[in-house]
Amino acid sequence: MDNRPQWGTRAGFIMAAVGSAIGLGNIWRFPGVAYENGGGAFFIPYLFALLTAGIPLLVLEFTIGHKNRGSAPLSYARLNKKAEWVGWWQVAIAFVISTYYAVIIAWAMSYSVFSFNLSWGEDTNGFLFGEYLQVAEQPGQLGGLVGGVFIPLVLVWVITLGVLSAGVKKGIERANRIFIPTLVVLFLIIVIRAVTLDGAAQGLDAFFKPQWDTILNGKVWVAAYGQIFFSLSIAFAIMITYSSYLPKKSDITNNAFITGFGNSAFELLAGIGVFSALGFMAMQQGVPVGEVVSKGIGLAFVVFPQIINEFPAFNAFFGFLFFGSLVLAGLTSLISIVETFVAGVQEKFNVSRRKAVLVGGGVSALISVLFATRGGLYFLDVADEFINSFGVALAGLVEVIVVVWFLKQLNSLQSYANSLSDILLGTWWKVCLGIITPVILGYMMFDKIRTNIT
Ligand code: PHE
Repeated sequence: MDNRPQWGTRAGFIMAAVGSAIGLGNIWRFPGVAYENGGGAFFIPYLFALLTAGIPLLVLEFTIGHKNRGSAPLSYARLNKKAEWVGWWQVAIAFVISTYYAVIIAWAMSYSVFSFNLSWGEDTNGFLFGEYLQVAEQPGQLGGLVGGVFIPLVLVWVITLGVLSAGVKKGIERANRIFIPTLVVLFLIIVIRAVTLDGAAQGLDAFFKPQWDTILNGKVWVAAYGQIFFSLSIAFAIMITYSSYLPKKSDITNNAFITGFGNSAFELLAGIGVFSALGFMAMQQGVPVGEVVSKGIGLAFVVFPQIINEFPAFNAFFGFLFFGSLVLAGLTSLISIVETFVAGVQEKFNVSRRKAVLVGGGVSALISVLFATRGGLYFLDVADEFINSFGVALAGLVEVIVVVWFLKQLNSLQSYANSLSDILLGTWWKVCLGIITPVILGYMMFDKIRTNIT
């Protein structure tokens, strides 16, 4: 066990954990979700979810990984042989996500190059679906290869697998130590510019204006928990894997708080930036902010290029910063997702890291090519919806039920974490994990099934 790779520094681990957490979800998902679910009022369920589920679960996962010193399947197996499948299930979800997450990073890479001469033109929607993804469908053409998603996709995989084969300290830690500070600086420049645009105030007003009546709506609470889970990369085997590389003496509870708050701080910053920019665009078009709000692919690849087109100056520069930020935020998350199955395969089959990277990462890379065509977009949507609906909530639910109720591990994990930290986990931690989180996740599942049936 002693030759297990380790993070070089505490900051290195925190960068990697925050790097996993900060991803596309922070930039393109959170702002829209908050707006749709009560604006300023959404912060109450959101904070509640962060404090009752997000951080307690992060502490739980960090403790499981640190104590058992293994990838997710091995860590669960060390808790109890019969629980190994929970780890494999989470690894499987991470695997599915990796196949389409990589494609979106590749798009962002293309778009950062397109920024130089605003090649998306006026009709950004037509460009994305009619041209960019169209060429991607015929990669046989030279233009298709260069202009389409193929080359960037290869690049995304070369970087990710290159980083992973360099190891925990020399690869993952080093990449995050470069990418995360760079991302924060780039993003701050964008946000500062965005809040000083004409119309930014109206955008922020739309974002922060509380709609108090939403607070009693169960859907809003489900949205808050869903956002926290996805955004903190919980129940995906990631945080267990990453914390298994921590040195013996590590304050895991404290690390979990830093990671949780760091991620939310970035999320808030993204909300401010995105809504300032939306406010600007609404003003340019003379429409209310509500009409230009969007999220996901539409926000990043249709609306944002329009905003960049209308920027008062340095359009290309800001376009490059925005898509460059997406690339960095995405890559650090993708690295963490792929690491889960690399570590799982490596330990299970006792092969070298390089081999595990080549096989695990290679298969995911091949599948991602299928998503990279226009037809693949449909599957991408289906996979994303499925993962968000069933993967996350269900895996989280199973995790707490197995660890807390079946294996009855809470007391021993609590004293383990407390022996390493100044922040002592009290009864609140057990109540959050044993009761609040399973009840809310259970409700979430029930709600999804009900709305899917009707
Ligand atoms: N947390 C990342 C985000 O906010 C995404 C992610 C999800 C990463 C699941 C890993 C696993 O985008």
